[in-house]
Amino acid sequence: MARPTPSHPRRLVALDGAGKAAVAAGRVWLVGAGPGDPELLTLKAARLIAAADVIVHDGLVSPEILSLAPASARLIDVAKRKSRHTLPQDDINRLLVAFALQGLTVVRLKGGDPFIFGRGGEELEHLQAAGIAVTVINGITAGLAAVTSLGVPLTHRQHAHGVVFVTGHAKPGDEGTDWRALADTAFKAKLTLVIYMGVSGAGRIQDELLTGLPASTPVAVIQNATLTSQRHITTTLGQLATAIAESRLASPSVIVVGDVVSGIAAAAELPAQFRVA
Ligand SMILES: C[S@@+](CC[C@H](N)C(=O)[O-])C[C@H]1O[C@@H](n2cnc3c(N)ncnc32)[C@H](O)[C@@H]1O
Repeated sequence: MARPTPSHPRRLVALDGAGKAAVAAGRVWLVGAGPGDPELLTLKAARLIAAADVIVHDGLVSPEILSLAPASARLIDVAKRKSRHTLPQDDINRLLVAFALQGLTVVRLKGGDPFIFGRGGEELEHLQAAGIAVTVINGITAGLAAVTSLGVPLTHRQHAHGVVFVTGHAKPGDEGTDWRALADTAFKAKLTLVIYMGVSGAGRIQDELLTGLPASTPVAVIQNATLTSQRHITTTLGQLATAIAESRLASPSVIVVGDVVSGIAAAAELPAQFRVA
C-alpha cells in the first residue's frame, strides 16, 4: 500500500489566561492493528494511523500497516518480545503521556486487539491517571483470525459451546494459568481453547491439559496467521510438543485445542479465493 502524501503534524496551540502560548493537550488512541493482513485493519484504525503525529507500535505490526502513516509522523518501535523488552512498560507509559502533553495525536498501535494480551489495560489506566484523553479501538485478535483463516469457526453448535482465549506465558512470580482446571472445564462445557504465547511451553501445557482432556483431542498450531508466511499443523493433544518440535513452528503462533479443529482438514480443500492471501 502506498504511503499517503505527507501532512504536517497537527499541534494545537491555545492562549492561556496570561496570554502565554499553551499547548492544548493531545490525545492517545490505543489501536488494534489486527493479526497482520493489512486488509483486516478496521477503517477507523486506518483513518487514525493516517492522521497520527506519533505512532508508538509493537513488533507484530506489519510494515504495510505502518506505511499508512503520513511521512511526517514519528514512528517508534517499542517491540515487545517475551524475553527481551526493547522498552520497559513503564517507559512506554511515560512516553505516551509525554507525547500527549506536547499536544500531539498519538496512536499506540498494537498487534491484534489492544485488550487481548496486549497490556492495553495497563496503558489505559496509566493514561487516565495522568489525565490524558484516551480512546480504545478494537482490532481482530490473532486467535480469532488464525482459525478463521483456515475456514473453521471457534464455536459450532455441534462441537463447541464457547471459546477461551488464554495465555501460555505467566508473569515472573505469577503461578499463571490453572491448566488442570481449564482442561476439566473445557471438557465438561465443550469449549475451544485458544492459547497465545504457548509454543515455548507446549510440553508443560500438554501434560497439564491431558489431566482433563483426552489425548485424541484435535489441536492446531498456526504461525503468522493471515500473513503470506502463514503455516499451520494439525495434530492431537497427546502429540502436541512432538509435532511442534518436528514442524519447527515458532512464535508468533496460537495453539487451538478442541473438536472444531477437526474441520481444518476439510478447510484445506477450500478454493483459493476463499483463503486469506
Ligand atoms: C503479546 S500477545 C499479543 C496478542 C494481540 N494483542 C492479539 O490480540 O492478537 C502476542 C501473541 O499473540 C499471538 N499472535 C499475534 N499475532 C499472531 C499471528 N499473526 N499469528 C499467530 N499468532 C499470533 C502469538 O501467540 C503471540 O505470541
